Amino acid sequence: MDDFTGPYSLDNVVDGADRMVDWARHNTSDVQFGNFKAALLFFEPSTRTMFSTEQAVLNLGMRRTIVSGSDHTSLLKGESFADTFRMYTGQGARIIALRTKIEGAPLFAAKVCQQYVNEISVINPGPVNIINCGDGRQYHPTQTVLDTLTIKRTLGRLDNFTLGIMGDLRNGRTCHSLLEAFRDRPGMKFVFVAPKGFGMPERYKHGLKDFVESESLDALADCDIVYDTRFQTERATDDEKRYIEAIRHEFVITLAVLNRWKPTVRVMHPLPRVDEIAAEVSLDPRIIAFPQAEMGIPSRMYIVTFLCQAPFRAIDLNPVQSELLVGTETKPTNPTKTPKHFQPVERGTVIDHLPAGSMEMVYRILRTLRSMPGDTPRQAVQYVKSKAHADHLKDMLLLHEYELPKFAAATIQSIFPEATINYLPGNQTILKRKYGVPVSISEHVRCSNAACITNNDREAHPNFVFLGHPGSARLVACEYCGAPLWD
Ligand code: NCD
Repeated sequence: MDDFTGPYSLDNVVDGADRMVDWARHNTSDVQFGNFKAALLFFEPSTRTMFSTEQAVLNLGMRRTIVSGSDHTSLLKGESFADTFRMYTGQGARIIALRTKIEGAPLFAAKVCQQYVNEISVINPGPVNIINCGDGRQYHPTQTVLDTLTIKRTLGRLDNFTLGIMGDLRNGRTCHSLLEAFRDRPGMKFVFVAPKGFGMPERYKHGLKDFVESESLDALADCDIVYDTRFQTERATDDEKRYIEAIRHEFVITLAVLNRWKPTVRVMHPLPRVDEIAAEVSLDPRIIAFPQAEMGIPSRMYIVTFLCQAPFRAIDLNPVQSELLVGTETKPTNPTKTPKHFQPVERGTVIDHLPAGSMEMVYRILRTLRSMPGDTPRQAVQYVKSKAHADHLKDMLLLHEYELPKFAAATIQSIFPEATINYLPGNQTILKRKYGVPVSISEHVRCSNAACITNNDREAHPNFVFLGHPGSARLVACEYCGAPLWD
């Protein structure tokens, strides 16, 4: 979703897609790319996205190959993703549309293909453009283009409305992309309706202000648009599947439900639907899921067009691995005064000046980094920083008999820049640790997400970067799948 920037902002792309609707009606386009090849790799099931992407490239006069399922590629024989992408690049593909359950695979593919074009390929001059057609539970940005186009044509605007998103918000990639597309627009309100355990993940809500969450469809009564989704049972455990079967009837949009909502409401759905929109309202004018799907061809036509015409935009193949800081220890100093509010540490680590309430996150970070043995004696203290500011609370963490490894200390200071970290080696000295030199923690940690490309391809190495929205605290997360470091 972050790639919709500059001249290719989502709004510009949606305007371009709107202009393609007439061309799509006539199965052609004024711009043709007859000498471009497209590889459409759908390793997960697809009906709409596969058909509309194929029709889009055909309307643009391109040559194409379609792979449906991984059973018919050498992936089945153990070929890696990296080699698969190199092969399609070497055979001249300029567009690779990719759907896979492996999260972060499109970004990895983009890097592999660019490097191959830069360094090896005899035939392909590049650039090779990767279109993410859905990566596991993460994102589905081309769906968001057609969803946004649908909203624009329905409401006549892309801000100042109430958007309800319901169903499987935990696993539904279309919901995550849609929220990214609308979260920072003026006057937006969000209502998330999902059963317990299937709500919108924290990382997508991070920093979001105007939203409510509920398990009741009645919470959607004031929405202008309700975006419904199916339960992604293929991503659920057996226990979750049983739970979904037991509660799914509570999440069905029937005529009675529709009639309790705002009369002008429009219901969207990325499809496929299972039973979450009842058959009795299939043709109700308030349900716009099928006309919405029709926007797939013009949207993908415009996406492919601008990618084929866009000037080469290089991806940084070796990004600085976040701004995590590590570095120098300042000179040992003698302890001055012992603060009154805690048991002095003889030997160990003191992490001070943490924002109040951050302790739980610090524990989680340390657990994820596997840097602190579970039996480390520890004390957490919350105190008032100064009498003058009685509401200025701080947290302090004391880890007895334990020296925090540098990469863990650096991570904490990167996330909480005001934190100070002191190591007391036990001879009445304090080693103040101030960190200043960028370093990677990636060699110490693996991504916690089993579906992440870094856990599924031997050439995809973990890399952690800062994510976050302006004005909100930063998250350290996997560059590929976005899983927070402390999940
Ligand atoms: C969705 C998908 O694959 O993410 N469908 C689509 O592309 N239109 C939704 C889903 O599978 O539930």
